[in-house]
Amino acid sequence: MRATAYAHTNIALVKYWGKRDDGGRGLNLPAVGSLSLTLDRFGTETTVELSETERHDHLTLDGVERTGPELERVSAFLDLVRGQARRELHARVTSRNDVPTAAGLASSASAFCALALAATRAFGLTLDGCNLSILARQGSGSAARSVYGGFVLMHRGQAEHGEDCFAEPLPAALDVRLVVVRCGSGPKMVGSTSGMGHAQRTSPYFPAWVATHARDLDDARAALAAADLPKLGEVMEHSTFKMHATTFAARPPFFYPTSTTMAALAAVRELRAGAVGAWATMDAGPHVKVLCAPGDATRVAEAMAAVPGVFGVDVAAPGPGARVLEAPA
Ligand code: PMV
Repeated sequence: MRATAYAHTNIALVKYWGKRDDGGRGLNLPAVGSLSLTLDRFGTETTVELSETERHDHLTLDGVERTGPELERVSAFLDLVRGQARRELHARVTSRNDVPTAAGLASSASAFCALALAATRAFGLTLDGCNLSILARQGSGSAARSVYGGFVLMHRGQAEHGEDCFAEPLPAALDVRLVVVRCGSGPKMVGSTSGMGHAQRTSPYFPAWVATHARDLDDARAALAAADLPKLGEVMEHSTFKMHATTFAARPPFFYPTSTTMAALAAVRELRAGAVGAWATMDAGPHVKVLCAPGDATRVAEAMAAVPGVFGVDVAAPGPGARVLEAPA
């Protein structure tokens, strides 16, 4: 009745941002599909231990016992697993992030993917990748993609209950690096769930974001199929700047970039002007992630580390999907 799983984080090249109406069922269905890269660094290790005696769930995250909204979100997720397993046991969840929690380095992706895998195995369930992805999605949209390694496609789906809304691996003959440039510290100001909800409700750019999204996904898939890094990089930048434009045009507006972010983006443009293939993406936080060829990663990392205000640079390669570290026989 105890299982441990590890999941790496993933970064969307073509972003998910906004939800489709699920009639209040809490299915967490995305308004658009997405395409991501699972990284070989940053992730979450989670142990779920079931108890016959506990009257409620417990959560320890990075050595600190959590209550309030963090525990409630995990408990609500465990309810889904309890429902599938048809068992009412409560759990002790112990989680360790090697990515700064809620700093816009997509910790919810690895967190809910590792929790989905550890919790199902602790309850004696062995889900296939598709059903694990569907379950993880209900914790966090991006978590559905961390089930798989490398490039991953997340389907928007059409079905009312989300049974066609899952991720699948997208094998590609393209090797890349993602240089993660930390442009701020501490928790992000506006979480992704509330940010995308507010942009969806109030930003006149949101409908344009949705209307133009399918073409970005098609273009990114075509670029991957052709192993065309410049094309992939160009589409990736277009997707991220459109996503961020919805926040600038929201009412009231909000935005994730800091002055350090803007300096890092300028450095990426300078690299390109110097004929180094480098393209930027940003999520719901200040950090910049720079896509480049493996042979350019050192040069890109050095250039980004020299940007004033940047306090850390990591070079990530494509990484594996989620895995079980310990489970009941
Ligand atoms: O998985 P969530 O609910 O934290 O949303 C992730 C949203 C972005 O990181 C901004 C984009 C993405 O596709 O990962």
